[in-house]
Amino acid sequence: MRISVEPLRIEPPRGLVLLDQTRLPQDEVWLEISSVEALCEAIQMLRVRGAPLLGLAGACGLGIAAATRGVSAEHLMQSARQLRETRPTAVDLGAAVDAGLAAALSVPEPERLELLWKRAIEFKAQRIAEDEALAAFGAELVPTGAAVLTHCNTGALATGGSGTALGVISRAWDEGRLVRCYATETRPLLQGARLTAWELGRLGIPATLLPDTAAASLIASGTVGLVITGADRIAANGDSANKIGTYGLAAVASRHGVPFIIAAPRSTIDLTCPNGAGIPIEFRSASEVGGFGGQRWAPDGVDAYNPAFDVTPGELIAAIVTESGIAPPPFGPSLRALMSGQ
Ligand code: MRU
Repeated sequence: MRISVEPLRIEPPRGLVLLDQTRLPQDEVWLEISSVEALCEAIQMLRVRGAPLLGLAGACGLGIAAATRGVSAEHLMQSARQLRETRPTAVDLGAAVDAGLAAALSVPEPERLELLWKRAIEFKAQRIAEDEALAAFGAELVPTGAAVLTHCNTGALATGGSGTALGVISRAWDEGRLVRCYATETRPLLQGARLTAWELGRLGIPATLLPDTAAASLIASGTVGLVITGADRIAANGDSANKIGTYGLAAVASRHGVPFIIAAPRSTIDLTCPNGAGIPIEFRSASEVGGFGGQRWAPDGVDAYNPAFDVTPGELIAAIVTESGIAPPPFGPSLRALMSGQ
């Protein structure tokens, strides 16, 4: 297993060090984060991002809260709320924060700080191991000699391990199955063009970047044998929220008989959410559509429709790959079985 970069370093008791993902690939800028406010800002601005990595960041956030604000139930609960509210769609963030909070509140106050950092360190190790297991299952679904298409960024920058969909792609490349990875640029924030292309380069995987608008014609041309993405929240029936544009890829793949699969850890599966209609979708600022990195191309003041995620209906998904195995359709029973360890 190869990990292209370590985007988050845990440095207790003061905090953590993050690779600022908004500055890649031009600049590798490392941020020392030692307050809850700084971490919330980094999450909201996507300096740290990707559903599984947000879970890890949230776990670390509680450690920072305990170190800087105190370990009383009141302080920890307030910090947990603040962290949870930074981004609503990815289930991992809220779930990791809630789990850390419950664990901290179950022990006496003097033990809470150490426990929270210990849990964060264990969380990171678990993340790496889960990505490796997921990649091994997923690589088997990559047809030998195929090119694949992926969307957004699902590599080390999104998980802290080898990645979800990108981990599968990397493993398939190492096993000699894959010939090329097509990566969408991923509007509006260009996570594909800036981050996935950077990671593919570091992993030595032949890569071709395409505008999101070229994906349908690429799939229709028969060039890719598989479309694979990550997910930010998977409902109990398999409906899956992922970066905006994923639904379109899945619909076109289905139209042309190309399998569309999702790679995500079990922590992304939310059985309390019956279907996609219950997944909260984050909307972001119009300024992200009208420009990027200080450069503006749209007229000032123009309105924009800018959802960060869409929901792909479960019936368009051929398989959901996790660290515990592959869930086939129908997803209601297969996800339940996967989550109960059967
Ligand atoms: O908005 P982001 O960049 O945090 O979006 C998350 C993603 O990168 C994806 O949608 C991804 O597939 C899930 S995280 C592996």
